[in-house]
Amino acid sequence: MTAPRTALVLGGNSDIALATLRRLASDGLDRVVLAARDIDALERRLEAEPLSIAEVTIVAWDTLDAAGHGPLIDTAAEELGGIDLVICAVGSLGHGAGITATSASANALIESNFSGPAAVLTDVAHHLVERGRGTIVVLSSVAALRPRRSNYLYGSAKAGLDSFALGLADAVAGSGVQVHVIRPGFVTSKMTTGLRPAPFASTPEAVAEAIADAMTSAKSRIVHVPRVLGPLFAVLRLTPRAIWRRIAGDR
Ligand SMILES: NC(=O)c1ccc[n+]([C@@H]2O[C@H](COP(=O)([O-])OP(=O)(O)OC[C@H]3O[C@@H](n4cnc5c(N)ncnc54)[C@H](OP(=O)(O)O)[C@@H]3O)[C@@H](O)[C@H]2O)c1
Repeated sequence: MTAPRTALVLGGNSDIALATLRRLASDGLDRVVLAARDIDALERRLEAEPLSIAEVTIVAWDTLDAAGHGPLIDTAAEELGGIDLVICAVGSLGHGAGITATSASANALIESNFSGPAAVLTDVAHHLVERGRGTIVVLSSVAALRPRRSNYLYGSAKAGLDSFALGLADAVAGSGVQVHVIRPGFVTSKMTTGLRPAPFASTPEAVAEAIADAMTSAKSRIVHVPRVLGPLFAVLRLTPRAIWRRIAGDR
């Protein structure tokens, strides 16, 4: 696989996405469009910690605004001269939003973690299939694999996105487009600030390395970070519920 030269990032202020861009820059990535809902915050961040990428364009975009998806892809295609890679790093943890959630907060979590990303990725997939090549990286989570009482809203939304991405990967097979589904465990990022790290916690840089490795594959991949979480969750998914409730606790 040829390393990507250009990338569109959905959720451009994500710690994991920015670590991934830094990692891919060493393989030749040199033009990026960062789509973010708070562009002032992202500009300030990049002034303080530049990306070392030749051309960086920041575009205001919110995954909840479906009318903005088409124009964003058109802008990115023009700015980049062709989109090689799309990273979907949008997400909102809403930690603790289990039984205490309201209908409004439940809806917001489902929209920002599932229906919003699925809508924009639908447009992205059409664009890349028409181009005949490209890679989509979807940040899912091991939370998608089994709901926990403390964050089943996030987990169920991620389960929807994970399932969407796996189906999309099959739908575009043979078109020249790959969809890599990345399932990290706990990652120390701004999303998890203040939370006690879970077992097998990793870093944005470790996730970035796993994504860079997946990028070498011409076939769609499912990647757990760290790798041990793949076999571990294969077992945990089958664990009786009473035991699972005790293992998962209120984490
Ligand atoms: N950290 C973890 O433990 C972990 C584990 C597994 C999977 N993941 C997934 O990895 C991805 C990246 O997470 P991260 O750890 O890098 O956390 P992060 O830095 O908080 O990144 C998440 C990004 O999503 C953006 N976002 C949220 N709602 C949005 C909306 N409505 N429209 C546009 N952008 C929106 C946030 O924007 P703002 O910057 O404006 O808040 C933020 O930049 C997420 O999908 C997350 O679910 C994270």
